[in-house]
Amino acid sequence: MFLHENLSVQDNGRLAFCGRDTAELAEQYGTPLYLLDEEGIRQRCRLYRDAMAEYFGNGSMPLFASKVLCFKRIYEMVAEEGIGTDLVSSGEIHTAVKAGFPMEKAYFHGSNKTDFDIRYAMDCNVGYFICDNEWEIVEINREAEKRGVQQKVLLRLTPGIDPHTHQAISTGKVDSKFGVAIETGQAEAFIKRVLTLKNIELKGYHCHIGSQIFDYKPFTDAAVLMLDFIAHIKEVCGYQAEELNLGGGMGVRYVESEPQIDYRENLRGIAALMKERCAALGISLPKILMEPGRSIVADQGITLYTAGGLKEITGFKNYVSIDGGMPDNPRYALYQSPYTVVNASKADKPADYVCTVAGRCCESGDLIQENVSLAKPEKGDLIAVLATGAYNYSMASNYNRIPRPAIVLVDKNGRDYVGVRRESLDDLLRNDI
Ligand code: LLP
Repeated sequence: MFLHENLSVQDNGRLAFCGRDTAELAEQYGTPLYLLDEEGIRQRCRLYRDAMAEYFGNGSMPLFASKVLCFKRIYEMVAEEGIGTDLVSSGEIHTAVKAGFPMEKAYFHGSNKTDFDIRYAMDCNVGYFICDNEWEIVEINREAEKRGVQQKVLLRLTPGIDPHTHQAISTGKVDSKFGVAIETGQAEAFIKRVLTLKNIELKGYHCHIGSQIFDYKPFTDAAVLMLDFIAHIKEVCGYQAEELNLGGGMGVRYVESEPQIDYRENLRGIAALMKERCAALGISLPKILMEPGRSIVADQGITLYTAGGLKEITGFKNYVSIDGGMPDNPRYALYQSPYTVVNASKADKPADYVCTVAGRCCESGDLIQENVSLAKPEKGDLIAVLATGAYNYSMASNYNRIPRPAIVLVDKNGRDYVGVRRESLDDLLRNDI
């Protein structure tokens, strides 16, 4: 009945998450509440890990894209599953370090790493930098020289692929703020320059075409283009990249009308095509890295809210008010992202009440979803928004001075525990003078 395996309906008619009564969890921890399926996240890490090792070989592995969901516990889980991570800020680096993450498996991204970031990343022994531009490589080289080290680097390149996803999350086109374009010849010139830098150990290239992509073709197009480029650079510079990082981006099913991707099958297909291309080009397949984020955690999380108001505007819409909104999930306000919403208190009742789910902030755009169908709520009903594991907590704010919700995980034995405490009112004043 529900989109994801970790959801079910109990005999009492309420929604269960990982076999746990959502009402009990809400009672214990309060709402809004982020819930995560620990075992589900681990399984996805293992799926990517095992499939990449099997199909690409040669030390290939996934790097968990931290931006999707960053807190200490998740790094422990990712580390235990034996995969790497991609980090985009000193804040993410700091969190990973404090969680004891093996930093040699960390890749540091960012389209404007500050000098502080570069120093901090080196202080923390981040394994690789994924360098975005010329100013940055000069600074990395300077800092590495000062420390008398060789810094491993991948260069972020833009392959000129349009993945047909939301404009704001499409990144691989030539006209992009990220990386250096292949098509214009600038990537080649950049590489020639980087190869002259004494304290840079160039390991290979990176590209990321975008996020929430269901179509399989843009990934293979980008992969093939990158291989062609590797062969070209080998020919003109005598340099063959050892590593190729293909970024993240595989889509997740948020609503029934979206497909469920078979990630393993996708990886198998991409690998087969890449091997074929390498054979044709006469190059060996590099070590392949990927940076899945959304497809590891999105459908492994839900958010619980409490319904606090119902407004049936005659001749217009029905509004259901919840005790959260854009501060804990800004994705509908930003991208009109689709979500499935369920009345968790009446999960066994027909979902036949059409309404708009509105947040509690002082602006009309603070909506979680418009025109969804759920069992008509009564005051105090629990409203569950599904597939909120990705880019919800990590994009949360304190707009309207609203504290961020807690993150509670449920493990494979059905045991719940806090991953991130709910912010208190005093937490909001923490940095006020
Ligand atoms: N690698 C790089 C370099 C990225 O920029 C991203 C996402 C990823 C990996 C992970 O992509 P994923 O597997 O999660 O699709 N805030 C937006 C998504 C922005 C994506 C940014 N980059 C959203 O809420 O939809």
